[in-house]
Amino acid sequence: MFADKEKCKRCGACAAECPYDLIVDDPEGFPKLRPAAKKTCIACGHCVAVCPTGALALPDMPPVTDALSPEQCRAMIRDQHVTPEQADQFLRSRRSIRTYRDKTIPEQILLELLGVAAFAPSAKNGQPARWIVTRSAETTQELVSHVVHYMSINNVFPGVIKNWKKGVDKVCHNAPHVAVAYAAEDGFNPAEDCALAAAYLELAAHARGIGACWAGFLMEAAEGCQALRERLGIPEGHGVYAALMLGYPKFRYARIPRRRDVTVRWLD
Ligand SMILES: Cc1cc2nc3c(=O)[nH]c(=O)nc-3n(C[C@H](O)[C@H](O)[C@H](O)COP(=O)(O)O)c2cc1C
Repeated sequence: MFADKEKCKRCGACAAECPYDLIVDDPEGFPKLRPAAKKTCIACGHCVAVCPTGALALPDMPPVTDALSPEQCRAMIRDQHVTPEQADQFLRSRRSIRTYRDKTIPEQILLELLGVAAFAPSAKNGQPARWIVTRSAETTQELVSHVVHYMSINNVFPGVIKNWKKGVDKVCHNAPHVAVAYAAEDGFNPAEDCALAAAYLELAAHARGIGACWAGFLMEAAEGCQALRERLGIPEGHGVYAALMLGYPKFRYARIPRRRDVTVRWLD
């Protein structure tokens, strides 16, 4: 760890925010890393990012592969803060979209969505989610055909199969894209980490007027359908933990549907 003594105000924020208590005071009260950090640091970057004066850097800190410096961390833009009302309306107005326009999403925008998804929380900051994204409706349909074939072999979801034979896609609803998240099965929490990344992706899409919907049928098929796993290129020892259809919505929602009343039991 490098602490610029000209800039550091010895406020203690870096030590207080370190998830593993890896930062202690040196004799002058400046922050320094405990030796345990070499093994224990999860490279969350909180110490660097919380510092109000940009005094800290983590050069050559395993498992940080690059130096983590204030210059590499995007500055917080305070006046872009959303109000609680705006945030609540945004979150409540996200819908699972099942009717898409016949228009692909530019690759650059897909990359932006994936970039936001990378900021989802993950166990021990493992960020294990890897993505496979179709760039065309044709490729998406090819994946769907594997899913439906798998369903017919296993004699499940007859309605989906029947629809497919009629030219109706109930797996990905004719979305132009599908984004599939996979991760190593032996990670800490691959399912939760991928699901959270997908949730972030869906919200980032919503913010851009892009529709999304979880593709549960595709996820299920990816567990056992070898042809689908091969087409996706899922490596050995990895699981598919999330899949999202993506595309521009055909319809705009005029209202927010109701949800169940909150169930809570307070403990004192
Ligand atoms: C794990 C998971 C799997 C899902 N699978 C499907 C699916 O295969 N097809 C589909 O149309 N919707 C699927 N959904 C979307 C849900 O049906 C949807 O979230 C729910 O009806 C609530 O609607 P809303 O997302 O618009 O609030 C899935 C959602 C989750 C979280």
